[in-house]
Amino acid sequence: MYICGIEIRPEKSAGRTVLQTVLHARNGTNHHENHLTIFQGKIPMIGKFNHVAIVVPDIDVAQVMYRDVLRAKVSGIEDYPDHGVRVVFVELPNTTIELITPLGEDSPVAKFLMRNPDGGIHHICLEVKNIMEVRDRLRAEGVRILGDGEPKTGAHGKPVLFAHPKDFCGTLIEIEEA
Ligand code: CO
Repeated sequence: MYICGIEIRPEKSAGRTVLQTVLHARNGTNHHENHLTIFQGKIPMIGKFNHVAIVVPDIDVAQVMYRDVLRAKVSGIEDYPDHGVRVVFVELPNTTIELITPLGEDSPVAKFLMRNPDGGIHHICLEVKNIMEVRDRLRAEGVRILGDGEPKTGAHGKPVLFAHPKDFCGTLIEIEEA
């Protein structure tokens, strides 16, 4: 595969990450080719979209808005003390919205709510087949994994990890082995 006359290989070449290779290929040249074709034919590392998580300042209000205004199917308010969150699950035909608010002293979403007092989209969750393989791939590409890098059991009882938003297009991404 060539972009602007420079060969792009699917895997790292000359110690460069994929991102560095693409940026290098783009530098100082016209680029009209579609970079998405680089990985044509490769097995995707992500599968289904699992959920979007929205941090809200008032979980009761959020539950009412989704249930009574949008008439969505919503769960009761569920406490996850181990995760420091209270959650309402909004079940849609094709995915789930998780409405989340801090629970307890050291909630991982408390800071987010301080920065975004009206609430906002916190993360998206993508399903993967092999979480360790995806973790190693992300790390090899310079993407930091939050915490100690070992998968934790998420709210669905499955192993999850989070990729640093600064290293992934400004979005906190949860990967879940499903
Ligand atoms: Co999540």
